[in-house]
Amino acid sequence: MPPFLPLFFLFLLTSTTSKPTSPSPSSSSSSSSPSSPPSLTSLMSTNHCKLFSSLLSSSSSALSTFQSNIPSGLTVFCPSDSSLSPFLPTFKNLSSDSQLSLLLFHAIPIYNSLQSLRSSNGVVNTLATDGSNNNFNFTVQNNGDAVTLKTPLNTALILTTLFDKDPLSVFKIDNVLKPRELFKLVEPPAPAPAPVAEPPASDKNKKKNKHKHNSPPAPPESAPQPSSENVKSADDDNVGFRCACVAWRQLVLALVIVLVVVS
Ligand SMILES: *[C@@H]1O[C@H](CO)[C@@H](O)[C@H](O)[C@H]1NC(C)=O
Ligand SMILES: *[C@@H]1O[C@H](CO)[C@@H](O)[C@H](O)[C@H]1NC(C)=O
Repeated sequence: MPPFLPLFFLFLLTSTTSKPTSPSPSSSSSSSSPSSPPSLTSLMSTNHCKLFSSLLSSSSSALSTFQSNIPSGLTVFCPSDSSLSPFLPTFKNLSSDSQLSLLLFHAIPIYNSLQSLRSSNGVVNTLATDGSNNNFNFTVQNNGDAVTLKTPLNTALILTTLFDKDPLSVFKIDNVLKPRELFKLVEPPAPAPAPVAEPPASDKNKKKNKHKHNSPPAPPESAPQPSSENVKSADDDNVGFRCACVAWRQLVLALVIVLVVVS
């Protein structure tokens, strides 16, 4: 038995050391990343950009466009899972062309470090940009250390750097970037004029209502009153006429009786 014990401990040692060696391949893959940029999709999916990563993976042309741009420089902005999740129904509602444009809208075909983004304000083109139209662009704007990306429809803030080594940088942002080419501007002035227009409208309505109240009730009120008065006066006249009639009849009767008696 004693001779087996050392062997047993040796086995334990090798089994425990074999466990650390299994993570070592992954660390060797991460050590290989400096030489060649890491897998974009795995980089994003392990950093709370899993939804964006899976959307990219499900569109072969979007993923290949991203990857083919890495050697010449690429800056990726991946919307966080919590910001992309509520947007998914809208995304799935888009045509496949629009879906592709929206994905390509989240990358600039130039390498930018966070520092270079901080030191530059202005309009940038994206992978979705049609060169001749300069469309599908957004504005990089800095406020202190904070870097925001603005479209006419919304704004996203850079949250963290997931990867930053020339020629690739990947930043996590807190919002899905909505290009104006795909979404109609929700016009806030539309509801605003309504309240502004309401006071005059309500005044007009009140005036109209006043006129309505004045004019419709007026005829009923004035009409019944004069009409009832007229009716009363007519009745009175009738009564007077009747009385006169009776008096005349009695007078005529009396005259006839007198004439008969006389004759
Ligand atoms: C999907 O599109 C239809 C028609 O364009 C629209 O009525 C509907 O509101 C859209 N749904 C979402 C979730 O965007
Ligand atoms: C940005 O895109 C719009 C179209 O959405 C275009 O009219 C405009 O010229 C572009 N701006 C720049 C600076 O390229």
